[in-house]
Amino acid sequence: MLEDKVFIEEQFPVSLVSKETLKEGKAVQSQTLTGLGKWWGRKELILVRASILGMLMPTSDNPKKDREMFLKILTMDNDGLWRRCKGIPAKIIFEWLSEFEREKYFAVTKTGRVSWKRELSIEEEDEVTRRYFETLSYDEKLEYCHRPEQIDGPSSAAWKDINSHLSTEASTIQELVEQLGLRRFDRIPKVGDAFCGGGSIPFEAARIGCDAYGSDLNPVAAALTWAGLNLVKSEDDVEAVAQAQQKVFDEADQQITQWGIEHNEMGWRADAYLYCTEVKCPSCSVLVPLSNTWVVGPTSKVIAELELDEANNRFDIRLTQNASSAQLKAAKEAATYQDSRVYCPKCGEDIPLSICVKQRVFVLGSPMISCQGKMISFRSGCTQFVGWKPITMTKLRKEQFVISVLQMLTICNGNKQ
Ligand SMILES: C[S@@+](CC[C@H](N)C(=O)[O-])C[C@H]1O[C@@H](n2cnc3c(N)ncnc32)[C@H](O)[C@@H]1O
Ligand SMILES: [Zn+2]
Repeated sequence: MLEDKVFIEEQFPVSLVSKETLKEGKAVQSQTLTGLGKWWGRKELILVRASILGMLMPTSDNPKKDREMFLKILTMDNDGLWRRCKGIPAKIIFEWLSEFEREKYFAVTKTGRVSWKRELSIEEEDEVTRRYFETLSYDEKLEYCHRPEQIDGPSSAAWKDINSHLSTEASTIQELVEQLGLRRFDRIPKVGDAFCGGGSIPFEAARIGCDAYGSDLNPVAAALTWAGLNLVKSEDDVEAVAQAQQKVFDEADQQITQWGIEHNEMGWRADAYLYCTEVKCPSCSVLVPLSNTWVVGPTSKVIAELELDEANNRFDIRLTQNASSAQLKAAKEAATYQDSRVYCPKCGEDIPLSICVKQRVFVLGSPMISCQGKMISFRSGCTQFVGWKPITMTKLRKEQFVISVLQMLTICNGNKQ
């Protein structure tokens, strides 16, 4: 059976899946896994679903039909899109109709408010709405649709077509996955992601009925994947997770405060950190922090200045707010990295990056910390920073904070052992 070609080996509706992927990506906080914690490069679930199904669905000698059925399974065909339609504002449909139909279906108040006539049945409303819906392009339809994962899968009529084409007897996506898996592999399909990050691949694989496995070097990613697989089942679970998250947040916050980390001597709390890479200058061995500008905040007029630390042969980075135009210009020109070349501020050499040795990532300057609307340098003795106005920076959201805390606790524990 394994010699038979599967759908994804012959074709894939790249454009439509991209549109669905984009829609899911744009849902931001209402994406299924995002509430658990942000993870970088998380795959959209529809992309995972389409890829797995594409790897399971056998091809026939009718590629057009194969494609139609593939889209049906994903509720990305016409019927599926209609099933996903959340409704269209009455005013939009009203404007599209002829004068005669407007009068037939709609009531308009003196103030111009448009509403469906009360005596109309749901079926009549649906019939007119669908007629309008069918005039829309795929992208336009998506505006009014739920995501495929938010509905109950294809209709029973669609399952009839799918089953007849694939010789299956499924009425859910999980049954289909099981039947196709048994046919091809003699078992439920197994899906593993060795670099599972935020866990979308194992999560979606499990949700559509595969046996799912995930691993990640990063324990936080592993924890998120575990949480996705074990906790996200319903709105209630999500609420319980949010409460648990708050508990972890509070406890971690307490522990961090007790240890005094992420605080300065005045008890103020770190709010944001900036990072850059430093490389070793091959000519004078100083560690050069790389940045193509030392203007940190053009609007808030914050600049970073490099101060040579002779003893350690590296640079300290001092942050200054309310820089003058001359200082801002100088900070821009003091770039240590441009067009793949490194400019050493100590010896003045200009060297291709490729021959500099990459060293490590370090904190740019002092962590910025804020308290009562003020920003201050983390290091003691930097009194020039006291009384700063807050710099507009994207603040860490709570779940990101929890992640950074978890990462830190893991590192601390690792160091202890
Ligand atoms: C882009 S993310 C993965 C995204 C994920 N596959 C998804 O679809 O949502 C890459 C992941 O690889 C992990 N990683 C990097 N090197 C690794 C290694 N040697 N072993 C396991 N995981 C690793 C990182 O921690 C990171 O979480
Ligand atoms: Zn140098």
